[in-house]
Amino acid sequence: MPSFGTLDREAGNLSRQVAEALREAVRKGDLRPADALPSTRALAASLQVARGTVVEAYEQLIAEGFLESKAGAGTRVALALGEPPPAREPRVDSGQAAQAGLPERAEAFARIGREFKPLPPVPFAISVPTGMTAPGDVWRRLGNRLRARGPGSPTGYADPQGALALREAIADYVRKSRSVRCEADQVIVTSGTQQGLFLASQVLLGPRDQAWVENPAYRGVTAILESLPHRDAMVRVSVDAEGLDVEAGIRLAPKARAAFVTPSHQYPLGMPLSMARRAALLAWARAAHAWVVEDDYDSELRYEGYPFPALQGLAPDRVVYLGTFSKILFPSLRLGYVVVPPGLVDAFCGARVLMDRHPPTADQHVLAAFMTEGHLERHVRKVRNVYAEQRLSLIATLEALLPRELAWIEPGDQGMHLVLWLAARLDDHRIVRLAAHEGIAVRAASPMFAAGTARPGLILGFGGFSSAQMKAAAQRLAAVIAAAAK
Ligand SMILES: Cc1ncc(COP(=O)(O)O)c(C=O)c1O
Repeated sequence: MPSFGTLDREAGNLSRQVAEALREAVRKGDLRPADALPSTRALAASLQVARGTVVEAYEQLIAEGFLESKAGAGTRVALALGEPPPAREPRVDSGQAAQAGLPERAEAFARIGREFKPLPPVPFAISVPTGMTAPGDVWRRLGNRLRARGPGSPTGYADPQGALALREAIADYVRKSRSVRCEADQVIVTSGTQQGLFLASQVLLGPRDQAWVENPAYRGVTAILESLPHRDAMVRVSVDAEGLDVEAGIRLAPKARAAFVTPSHQYPLGMPLSMARRAALLAWARAAHAWVVEDDYDSELRYEGYPFPALQGLAPDRVVYLGTFSKILFPSLRLGYVVVPPGLVDAFCGARVLMDRHPPTADQHVLAAFMTEGHLERHVRKVRNVYAEQRLSLIATLEALLPRELAWIEPGDQGMHLVLWLAARLDDHRIVRLAAHEGIAVRAASPMFAAGTARPGLILGFGGFSSAQMKAAAQRLAAVIAAAAK
């Protein structure tokens, strides 16, 4: 039984007092992640309050992500609150790798390993498929069917390129939904876009080659280029309202071997690459014999305007196209794809064999059936509506809560996140740490920028949480930001 101090019965609103006492017990460490709470009946009896008072307090804390409740298992402190905030500073001094006889690359990998810890599944983590946004029963049924006796049951080594049934389904899907020009034999099934980006860096870049990367950009791509032995491999190219500034790229590195871009929604800002810039980028790529690596990470989720088709459709011989099922289905599935020009298929497959031989077979067949039986299309339609509502509700909540001089949003057309910009004097890493103590999961925006150009901000995911959960978390986040500004 947590110690409560005394409730102030004169002050009224006892359920709010009970909730605050429990929050305080978690903050002080008297209650730890996964600790079981007393039943509402037992706590109400011990505090001499009505049971409904305790039920209300528990419900509020569940909505906030402090507590979790499972049928038959009672209520406990959320496990997620035990996750340490992402470590910022390297725990090893630079030079330690050299002393240990390791190359500098090992240090870069160690830093990346610490940075890429997953966020706990509380607001505002990105891609948390729960309730309405999880594929649910159909996925389970197909899985059982295929695992029991179908092609998903145990077999020997399989094709490193991926199961043909899935490659055919993917080729059909991207042709129809994204105007990608390809056949199934150009599709390589990956364990997500992260692997696709890594494969592209391995296959396309020689030891002295440079690559353009947008500024700001997804850390998963900048980290790959930082880990390459060639220190100047990455050339950061600014973006504006039309997306990548192609002329700036040409000025900085006309002979770059590749450009890593997010044309359908610039990551993290959300604007599409304009038609004029698309033409300029492809003209440069053709003239420079460079490759364009198109990360189409959440193209299914667009809320404004007419969706631009994929860049790949305009230049299938120059573009390496990457897609993922992490956003529209769920990230732990670890399935995505690369579509490459026919001449690159063997090299990509060879690099992938050395990495992990081939993707796990069973889920590939489940996904192929999910797609060919029409479930993916239905799921996309449903999820798009849910996310559109959640996005508007989060925008309204944040606009109502946050004083503009401290934090503001400039809603782009991102699929499952918003960027909350912070006043220049605020440190986004510190706010991430403080928010984590309050059970809120956010990522800092500043590491997505090139050195010297960073802006403080927070990336807020809105997929998977109810409006009530997001509202409660936004209130706490506003309090954290206000406190940090004092
Ligand atoms: C822009 C961008 N590219 C790629 C990825 C990686 O996705 P995957 O889970 O498929 O590796 C993400 C994930 O958040 C992303 O935001």
